[in-house]
Amino acid sequence: MRYPYRNQEVISVIIAVETSFDEDEIFRLYDSVGWEPWTRDIAKVCRSLVSSHLVIAARDESGNLLGLARTVSDDEMICYVQELLVNAKFHGQGIGRQLLEHLIERYAHCRYFVLTTDHESTPDGKNNHAFYRKFGMIEHHEQGLSAFGRKVDNTPYTGTVVDG
Ligand SMILES: CC(C)(COP(=O)(O)OP(=O)(O)OC[C@H]1O[C@@H](n2cnc3c(N)ncnc32)[C@H](O)[C@@H]1OP(=O)(O)O)[C@@H](O)C(=O)NCCC(=O)NCCS
Repeated sequence: MRYPYRNQEVISVIIAVETSFDEDEIFRLYDSVGWEPWTRDIAKVCRSLVSSHLVIAARDESGNLLGLARTVSDDEMICYVQELLVNAKFHGQGIGRQLLEHLIERYAHCRYFVLTTDHESTPDGKNNHAFYRKFGMIEHHEQGLSAFGRKVDNTPYTGTVVDG
């Protein structure tokens, strides 16, 4: 699909399903948004992409990777958006919108369309909440729901890779 976007510089974005991934290209995308827990082990990220229910990529006409989103889903009851990111150089050009709208439409038949993101009190959370709210998404507690999870290890990386 082609989406001429509204910005001063018209960027033609092609959104397509992808099933194989180049580690260097994926590294550059995730690194651009500072996702260090991911770039620490990019082979693992690529394996997670391959095992996802769906991965859609946004590319320009030359094939450069601009953004990506992936889901974990049973394609019936739940769609979990595990990652949605746009290369930092291209934020604010409607690429995240195109990725998210594609997923919302693709999984419209699922009862749950959910994701986890940083808390609104954090710098990333502030941006992400504004973005997701644009699409009518609300936090669990705002509709009488709660989300639970085991504690995520957010310890900053010290440079030591532990095998195993
Ligand atoms: C969040 C993210 C995906 C948004 O992508 P983007 O391409 O910059 O967003 P878009 O340009 O498509 O914006 C879509 C809409 O959200 C709004 N929006 C986006 N970021 C916003 C912000 N920080 N504050 C307010 N509104 C914002 C835009 O104004 C736009 O609305 P409009 O079309 O009515 O003008 C992108 O900033 C990103 O990759 N961030 C780092 C990774 C991340 O944190 N991902 C989300 C957590 S999984």
